[in-house]
Amino acid sequence: MSSATHGYIFANWKMYLNQEESVALATSWRAAPRPDGYQLAVFPSALAFTSVAEALAGSSIRVGAQNVYWVDQGGYTGEVSAAMFAAAGAQYALIGHSERRHQFHETNHEVRQKLEAALASGLTPLLCVGETAAERSAGRTWEVIETQLRAAYHNLVWPAKTDLLIAYEPVWAISRGTERWGADCPPGEAEVIHTRISDWLQGIMSGVAPQVLFGGSVRAANLGRYLAEPHLAGVLVGAASTQPDRWSALLANITPRAL
Ligand code: 13P
Repeated sequence: MSSATHGYIFANWKMYLNQEESVALATSWRAAPRPDGYQLAVFPSALAFTSVAEALAGSSIRVGAQNVYWVDQGGYTGEVSAAMFAAAGAQYALIGHSERRHQFHETNHEVRQKLEAALASGLTPLLCVGETAAERSAGRTWEVIETQLRAAYHNLVWPAKTDLLIAYEPVWAISRGTERWGADCPPGEAEVIHTRISDWLQGIMSGVAPQVLFGGSVRAANLGRYLAEPHLAGVLVGAASTQPDRWSALLANITPRAL
């Protein structure tokens, strides 16, 4: 992250918007005021990716893939490769989102292959980690996160010019839409996990500066409390990023800060 950047405000549109809605929202973002010093990026559906990238071309808002496949090209019905997203203008890729892990049974091994493919294609991966409510109640939060981190990064040589981005997204905090927010993760609890993730990664890879974003029901009402935590490098917003009024309210709550 450059010294002029205060943090990351990333928007995962999941499967909330069709193509027309995605282009309309991206076009409105292009024209709207943006917080100084924050890197903004949007992760549209694979269907809407190209038209959203076109709508945002030449602006400072970047686009990323919600998911990638690791083989560049071939007989893999329904998949889109990291290489194809890169060729279409993606700069980032979400890797191992909890909805992929839990609803589509993506394994840690597959997550690793996707991470490597994203890097090989020149994308900056944003690895998502986090525990379920049951794992949290069983006191297994760190064990789960460490397993996810180890599978993704063990023996991986991190490219010097690529940001090392991780999103801590406790599964129990993720919403099912703006009418069904998840539980609010106490910012202090997120801060402890963020620090631990960062320290752990610096322990296994030399010379890296991990940037850990938080995700899980982030919206205008709680954003300020998350961004106030020193080890919180930004946020990955789901549902609240898919409605124009909620998104502008969220951006209006951001005050520039130094990391
Ligand atoms: P919500 O903000 O809808 O809880 O989604 C968080 C998330 O999963 C972002 O990737």
